[in-house]
Formats: sequence, C-alpha cells, structure tokens
Amino acid sequence: MVSRRLKDLQYAIRDIGVIAEEVEKAGKQIYHLNIGDPVIYDFKTPNYISQALADATFAGQNFYVNSLGVPELREEVCRYEKNKNSINITPDDILITSGVTEGIFFLLAGLLENNEEILVPGPTYPVYLNYAQFFDGIPVEYELNEKNEWEPNIDDIRKKISPKTKAILISSPNNPTGTLFSNKKIKQIIDLAGEFDIPILSDEIYDQIVFEKQYTCPATLSKDVPIIGLNGFSKAHLATGWRMGYLYYYDPQNRLTELKKGIENMARARLCANSIAQYAAIEALKNPGPHTEEMVKKLRKRRDYSYKRLRQIEGLNCINADGAFYLFPKIDITSFKKWKNDKEFVIDLLRNTGVCAVYGSGFGTYGKNHLRLTFLPDLHLLEKVYNLIEDFLK
Ligand SMILES: Cc1ncc(COP(=O)(O)O)c(C=O)c1O
Repeated sequence: MVSRRLKDLQYAIRDIGVIAEEVEKAGKQIYHLNIGDPVIYDFKTPNYISQALADATFAGQNFYVNSLGVPELREEVCRYEKNKNSINITPDDILITSGVTEGIFFLLAGLLENNEEILVPGPTYPVYLNYAQFFDGIPVEYELNEKNEWEPNIDDIRKKISPKTKAILISSPNNPTGTLFSNKKIKQIIDLAGEFDIPILSDEIYDQIVFEKQYTCPATLSKDVPIIGLNGFSKAHLATGWRMGYLYYYDPQNRLTELKKGIENMARARLCANSIAQYAAIEALKNPGPHTEEMVKKLRKRRDYSYKRLRQIEGLNCINADGAFYLFPKIDITSFKKWKNDKEFVIDLLRNTGVCAVYGSGFGTYGKNHLRLTFLPDLHLLEKVYNLIEDFLK
C-alpha cells in the first residue's frame, strides 16, 4: 500500500523521540538532548523579528508570494552574502526555501536519478542520506577522520568519485561532529571537484555558530568551481519553527543554468515559501540584533562544560566541537559488552535515565558506536544529564 520511498524513510533524530514518548508515558522524566532546536531551550526568537512577522500578517501579506521568494528578501540575502563573504552573486542567484531542508530536497531532486551518487561527509546530517535515497540516488559517505579531529579524508573522497558522482557536500561546521573543516581541506575538496567537473553543495546553517576559530565561506575559496550554498534563519536567528531558508548559486561560469531552471520549476510547483516569515526574515537581515553573538557566548560555556564532563566519563571518548551545538562522543561498545551497538545503547540509556540522545549510526556508517548530544540546555540541566550518564555507565 505504500511506496518503497516512504517505507524506507528514517530520521533518527526524531525517530528516537517516538521511543521517548513511550518512556514518558510510563512516568519517566525525559531530558531531550536529541533535537538541535535552540528555541525549545532558553534561546528565544528576538521580539523585533516576531513583531515583523505579526506586522506582516496584520498588513495583509497573507497571500501566495513569488515562488522564488519575496524580491526584497532575495535582495537582502544577496547583500548579506556579498557583505559577509564578498562573493559575486545577484538576487537572481537566490531562492527562498521552507528551511534549508526544502533546499536539500530541491537540490537532490534536481541532481539525482538512477543510482547517481552524491558524496557526503561521514557522519552527516541524515536528511542528505534520506533524500538522496528518496530520489533513487545513492549517498556515498566520505570519511571524516576522528583521529584527525574529524577533518575530511581527501584521499577517500578521490577514491570514491565515480562517473556517477553528481555533487560533493561540504557541511562546515558539521552536524553531528561540530567540526569546522580547515581552509586547506575545503580548498582540496574544491580542487578535486574542479578536476572532475562536479559542483559543490555547501551547508552553511551553522556559519555564525563558531567558537574559537574563524569561519570561511567555501565559495570564497573557489575561483570557478560552482558552489550552491544553503543557509537559513532557524539557528542564527532563532526561528526554527518558521521554516525559513535559502539557496544561493555561486556560478562564475554559468554551469548551473539548467539545474537552476529545473529547481525554479519545482519551486513554482510548490507555490511559495511562508509569506509572513519572509517579511520577518527581511527585518532580521536589515537589523541584525545581538542575539546570535549572545547565543554563541552562552553556548561556548555549555560546550566547555559538556566537553569536560564527557571526557571524564569512562567508556566515552570525545573530540571537541568548533561550532554548531553538538558533541559526538564515541562509546567503547566492545569493552562494555552489554550493548550490541549504539542504537541499543541509546535506547537503554533513555529507558534507564530519561536522557534522550541520538544514536550515531543514524548519521551514517561513520557514526556507528557514537551518540550525539546537544549542549543547548542550560548548565543546570547539563549537569544533571551528565551525572545521569556517568551513573548509568558505572
Ligand atoms: C546541517 C543541517 N542542515 C540543515 C538543517 C535543517 O535546517 P532548517 O531548519 O533550515 O530546515 C539542520 C538542522 O538541524 C542541520 O543540522
């Protein structure tokens, strides 16, 4: 009764939530460390942005808008990207999407069919794996090397490029590892893409959530290799539920014209992205408040605390995060002998302590024997959670 496409669809970050609901119904308090949503913790959508959304609805902006996005927002996004990254794009190179998630959906719909491949970091944000398969493509994971602070293994990428490779994904800072790829590695990936004439996709949703290091936009490192950037308002502007994102095409030699046209057809077929949230997004870009910087400051303390605690827990081994809001410790599954794999471990942890993490294998093969924990909660809650994990492992 249901297509293969939907039967096979999995999303570990929320699938674990279904088990958490069951455990909660049985009377246990749940500590949600599975979802990367700052707004459910003590990071609130700034009032002036919410006000812009309310103003837009009362001003009657409640109709279908341009399928490619409200022109003023496309101009603002273009200005923002140009100012921040000095890349040469125009408003015509911007498409407003319902979150980065819709941008991923459009791109993989436009790039893949008949077992064609996309190279994605391993581990990676699971939506890339899901949608690649959804469109009859194959996500091929390239190694992020845990022994080298989760940096991409360039030889592995070279080995895995095939005539079927349609794109290479860079996701930096990466979810779930929090790694900021070094400029050297990004440049090497871009050079490889140039050598094989493959475009790059660059997921930049965490570009403003970086701690000690300096973020560099991959497009600034590319002379002529086409790069499609994905970004949005969920994380930096604390508006996850509004579903606001965009794609931009950095395409100095016009090699993406056909893909761009196809994606525009698809954008028209889904009518438009949320109208009033687009007006609020214009306000967020025109008047960037202090909220992002304040969030990063708070998160840094929470990251430091989480990293310190995780490193002290026997049986876990953790690399620190450069950005985003996740840590991805390795579980010494073989010496514990109690659990067959990371999924069993995470479910057992949830049933016993109420701590809801995500099993690492949900982020692809390279995520096996890990768990992802978000450090978005306040220090008080984090302390409780790490005490529970520590006791559980003892
Ligand atoms: C790497 C990455 N890309 C995209 C998304 C989804 O973003 P959006 O809310 O804009 O759909 C997430 C959400 O956690 C993410 O981690």
